[in-house]
Amino acid sequence: MPHLGNNRIGVLPRHHVASGSFYVGGAEQRLLQAFLGTCIGLALWDRRASVGGLAHFILPEPVVPGSTYQPEKYAATGLPRFLDALVAAGAQKDRLVGTMAGGALVGPVRQQDLSLDIGGRTAEIVQTQLASQGIPIQHSETGGFFTCCLNLNLETGEASIEPAGIEKSDRQTSVQIPSREEVIAAGEKIKPIPQVALKILRIVNDDQTDWQKIAAEIRKDQVISARTLQLCNSAFHASKTPITSLEHALAFVGQNLLVRVVISAALDDFFNQSGKGYSLCKGGLFHHALGAGITAEMLARRSGRVDPSVAYTAGLLHDIGKVVLDQFVASAYPLFYRSVREDGDHMKNTEKRILGYSHEEAGLALARRWELPLVVQEAIAHHHNPESAGHFPEVAVLVNLADHIMFRFNAGLELESMRNERFVDRLQSAGIDAGQLPQLIDAVPADIFGATPETAILGRRP
Ligand SMILES: [Fe+2]
Ligand SMILES: [Fe+2]
Repeated sequence: MPHLGNNRIGVLPRHHVASGSFYVGGAEQRLLQAFLGTCIGLALWDRRASVGGLAHFILPEPVVPGSTYQPEKYAATGLPRFLDALVAAGAQKDRLVGTMAGGALVGPVRQQDLSLDIGGRTAEIVQTQLASQGIPIQHSETGGFFTCCLNLNLETGEASIEPAGIEKSDRQTSVQIPSREEVIAAGEKIKPIPQVALKILRIVNDDQTDWQKIAAEIRKDQVISARTLQLCNSAFHASKTPITSLEHALAFVGQNLLVRVVISAALDDFFNQSGKGYSLCKGGLFHHALGAGITAEMLARRSGRVDPSVAYTAGLLHDIGKVVLDQFVASAYPLFYRSVREDGDHMKNTEKRILGYSHEEAGLALARRWELPLVVQEAIAHHHNPESAGHFPEVAVLVNLADHIMFRFNAGLELESMRNERFVDRLQSAGIDAGQLPQLIDAVPADIFGATPETAILGRRP
C-alpha cells in the first residue's frame, strides 16, 4: 500500500469525487477522495504540468439506450472525457501516470454469476483504454470485499489507497463502553422525527391515502410547510410562477412526490443529529437513507410484489437506529473500525459485542415508540437478516437489497460491513433477474453524495 508520505494531507481541504463523476485540477491545496466499493477509481497525474484528476466510474459501459444517460458514470464513455479534461487543463497524455482502486465483488462469483463481476469488468475497460493510450498504471488494488478510499493530493500529485474511514481510526479517544441503560437513555433523548412526518407515514401506509388529511397535517406545522414550499421552489426553479401554497405544490409535483418531500425534509434534521460515528462524510447517513429509499422503491416496481411507497418509506428509515448509537460508535471508533474492517465482522455483530445493542434493535425501539406501521418496524428490525421478518419478509428483503446496492455503489456514506453471500438468492426471491443488476445500479441517482434533498428527492427520477 503506498504511503501517504506527507503529514500535510491531514489538513488539506477535501473534495469528494462522487460516484459517476470526475474532478480535474492542479497545483492546488486540495485532497481529492473517492470512496470505492464495487466502483473503480482512477487517479491520473502529469508531474511536469502539475495537473491531474480523479475519476469515479460506476459501471463498465452504458446499460440501456435511452436511460438517464450520464457518460461520466461509465468507464467506456467517461474515461475519454476524463482524458480530454486533463489535456484541456494542460496535461499531456504521454506524461500521465495512473493509480487505480476499487472493484469490490458484488456477490459470490460462481460461474453462472460472472455477469455480476461488475467491478472487474469496469477495471478491465479502464486498463485496456489506458494501455491503448500508452498510459502506465503505477499502482493498482482492485477486487476484494471492502470499501477503500483513493486519494489524490493535488498539491503534490501523490496518490494513495487506504481502507475507508481509517483516518478517523487514528483519533485518540478514551474508549468508554456505555451500559445498556445509557444506550436506552440515548434513544429516549433523541430529537424525534417531527409529528407531522410520523402522522403522514401512518396515513400513507393505509390503503386509501387521504390527501385532505395529509394536507391538514402539513398545515399544522409551519416549519415543515415552509420547508416543503422552499424545496418545491428550488427543485423546480425553472417554473416561472413561484409555488406559494400547498395546493399549488400538489398540482405541480403530484401527491406522491409532495409526501416524499415532506418526509425527507423532516428526516434531514433527524439524521443531522449524528455525524461522527457511522458517517464517513458530511451528511452520509441522510444520503444513504435517501438512496436506500429510492432504490427500494425502484426494486419494488421491478418486483411487483410490494407497494413502492411502502418500500420507499422502509428504505428511508431502515437505519434510524444508527442515529441513536452514533455517539457511542464515535467514542469507540478505533475498536469498531478494527472489528469491521480488519476482522471482517458484520457491523451489527460488532455493535452487539461492543455496545450490547445493534442498530436494528435501537431502530426498532424508536419505531415502536413512534408507532410506525408494523411493516416499517419489521424492515428496520430485520434489514440485515430479512428472512427472519415475521409478517412482511418481502419488504425487508427489498430494503436489504437496496441497502446492499447503496453500500457497494455509493460507498463511503457510512461505516458499514455487509456480506455478499445471499445477494443473488435474495434478488431472485424478490422476482428480480440478477442480470438486471446493471440497470438497477444505473437508475440509482448518481448525485446522492452531493445531493441536497431537492435534487435527491425530486431530480433524476428512476
Ligand atoms: Fe443497517
Ligand atoms: Fe443501511
